[in-house]
Amino acid sequence: MRLISVWTRIPGSVQGSIRYIKGIISIDVIRNILEKRIRFALGNYTELMDIVVSGIRSTGNLHLGNYFGAIRNFLKMQKENKCFFFIADYHSLTTHPKPDHLHDNIKQVLAEYLACGIDPEIATVFIQSDVPEVIELYLLLNMNAYVGELERTTSFKEKIRKQPDNINAGLLTYPVLMAADIIIHKANKVPVGKDQEQHLEMTRRFARRFNTMYGVDYFPEPDAYNFGKQLIKIPGLDGTGKMGKSEGNGIFLADTPDEIRKKVMKAVTDTGPVTPGRKPSGPVKNLFIIMNVVSDHSTVKYFTEKYATCEIRYGEMKKQLAEDIIKATDPIRDRINDILKDRKYLAKVVSEGAEKARASASKTVREVREIIGYKPF
Ligand code: TRP
Repeated sequence: MRLISVWTRIPGSVQGSIRYIKGIISIDVIRNILEKRIRFALGNYTELMDIVVSGIRSTGNLHLGNYFGAIRNFLKMQKENKCFFFIADYHSLTTHPKPDHLHDNIKQVLAEYLACGIDPEIATVFIQSDVPEVIELYLLLNMNAYVGELERTTSFKEKIRKQPDNINAGLLTYPVLMAADIIIHKANKVPVGKDQEQHLEMTRRFARRFNTMYGVDYFPEPDAYNFGKQLIKIPGLDGTGKMGKSEGNGIFLADTPDEIRKKVMKAVTDTGPVTPGRKPSGPVKNLFIIMNVVSDHSTVKYFTEKYATCEIRYGEMKKQLAEDIIKATDPIRDRINDILKDRKYLAKVVSEGAEKARASASKTVREVREIIGYKPF
């Protein structure tokens, strides 16, 4: 046992009398006291933090756009807020995944989240279907969600167009389940992309409607978490819009180096610059945007200058880009594979996450039932 001597104040001593005595104390005791104080301070601090909820559907693997656009910001967010990150596997049922695939899809996205640095020690990481409380809140909220407003939702109208033979009620009430996901933890902030803004607006409306209906100030109205300048939109490799899961224009974090090379070499470009000094536009600009994120400053500068002098060879640029993407994603891919093999770790993360999420969710459902008028007999 290590001992040190310390001066301590005599409790109750007043000025003029002997106020300090020298004593001997074990370092372990000091450590214990400090740890308790820190834990206490942190506990109070988490109470003051903003609550963030974000879900990702377990359909398809994470791609570069998810990583640089969203997940890297999540890593910062988890340190400054009380975060709930979850895999929206109930939401994924709207497209009827095969039972053989459902579990693997969930596991893959979870491993990818963790491999990117989402830290289950700080954030609450869980699977939506492990928290059945959300279904009860979903049912309760459905009673104040009107068919007309649900039918007018952009994402629903789009689904009708895209999958006319599977317009199920789950699609219609998708925004209600999403609202339940968010307000069940009384979130203040939700990091969402443009395509989810309308759903968040509906969440706010459902929260407000509940409060008004029961004359309470219970649910906060969550705001979109805006990353401002930090928000990077990664374009796809097909020369059109943003990188997507199902657009066939993406590079996945789990892609092997060879797959990455093949995809980048096939990326859409144009016939090459003809007028010196012009800025690249369209598909080539997209490649530069990706390069800006993954490559060194000097590499970007080199190809920008080559472009400006019309000497650029897209083949050379793509080769370099592919290698830089591989360098950026290699460690993540290794971690994904390690985590996927570690069943014990995954099981631990999932059960601890479920426990934390259920504690928060069941408290809300209990209070909501009370507000609605349920009483014990
Ligand atoms: N609807 C979201 C998407 O498709 C996923 C999602 C479900 C979500 N529940 C959520 C996102 C709650 C944020 C908060 O991307």
